[in-house]
Amino acid sequence: PSSKLVDAYGRAHDYLRISVTDQCNLKCVYCMPEEGMTFEPASHLLTPQELTVIVETAAKLGIRKLRLTGGEPTVRKDLIDIIERLSRIPHIEDIALTTNGLHLARKARALKEAGITRLNISLDSLVPERYHAITRGGHLKQVFKGLEAAFEAGFSPIKLNVVVLKGVNDDEILSFVSLTKQYAIQVRFIEYMPIGHADEQWRSQYVSIDSIHALCEQNGMVLVPAEHVYGNGPSENWKLEGAPGTVGLIHPLSRHFCDSCNRLRLTADGQLKSCLYWEEEIALKPVLHDEQALIDQFHKAINGKPQNHEMAEALLKQSLSRTPTARRMSQIGG
Ligand code: GTP
Ligand code: 5AD
Ligand code: SF4
Repeated sequence: PSSKLVDAYGRAHDYLRISVTDQCNLKCVYCMPEEGMTFEPASHLLTPQELTVIVETAAKLGIRKLRLTGGEPTVRKDLIDIIERLSRIPHIEDIALTTNGLHLARKARALKEAGITRLNISLDSLVPERYHAITRGGHLKQVFKGLEAAFEAGFSPIKLNVVVLKGVNDDEILSFVSLTKQYAIQVRFIEYMPIGHADEQWRSQYVSIDSIHALCEQNGMVLVPAEHVYGNGPSENWKLEGAPGTVGLIHPLSRHFCDSCNRLRLTADGQLKSCLYWEEEIALKPVLHDEQALIDQFHKAINGKPQNHEMAEALLKQSLSRTPTARRMSQIGG
């Protein structure tokens, strides 16, 4: 009935990333400022009912896969209600969750029962003191308990997201790769993206993910292409011969993957963003009562989508004076 979400560059969109809250129980150094953030008042957040209306319409336009992000999605008290409603919507095939894992020990089973199909867990260090420092207060033991609970609840695949930061955790790359020899886990190394924060911090800590192949090889760990690991994102997958786990490489800057972009983003306060780095936001709240108007807003977002973020090169050549976007990562959902 309604035309599908294909943009001016021929990219079809079937993946919607939904930030369900901008709040987080951590303040990771690459994501939030030390002084914290002013969070949206609860009354601004999309309700479970409003999210249902949006996703029902999105599904009619071809969205098949959802990812719930934050902030930290599990701090939202009505998350289970949200998941149950979204999982009943026709044509939605996949509802993944990106979490810091701190609440998983208590919530993994309920999340699975409500309809979460897959988990991506952010974990940037395997050293307790470091983890505490990077997250400004998190306890590594709690994440390990959460991981265990996630395995017990039957989640598969389970992916670990590691943002690589020079001088902070780049000496742990081999330890993370080694984890894949022991566990059926997907370790994904992510390039640090400059987004809404101090430029100097990003410049001094950015590491190109391209360097990981050579590093592994120099240390006798040869990465070979891995068979496909289910996912909707930009990760390229590799593995150590014979290992149960895989190594994913996500390089938004050194080799951006905009040509194959399949996703839209929805902020917790109901704004559609066609690109992580696009300032334009399309408000959905004012049109929730009118399905055709809602469909029109989706098309407006798609029609305004840029071909790529055109930023990596400018940044790498140091010709940008500030990092783009007014919103921080925690407000967009990664
Ligand atoms: P899978 O479906 O399991 O592949 O997940 P995903 O990679 O789509 O989601 P996740 O939330 O785990 O994101 C991993 C990293 O990739 C995060 O740092 C995201 O910000 C980054 N990322 C995901 N999509 C995009 C994108 O469209 N553009 C850019 N620049 N980065 C992205
Ligand atoms: N650069 C790269 N990845 C980031 N994330 C948060 N901020 C950044 C950044 N500046 C990651 C989180 C989470 C995912 C959704 O995005 O670690 O795993
Ligand atoms: Fe898509 Fe924008 Fe990310 Fe490129 S930067 S992959 S266009 S969301």
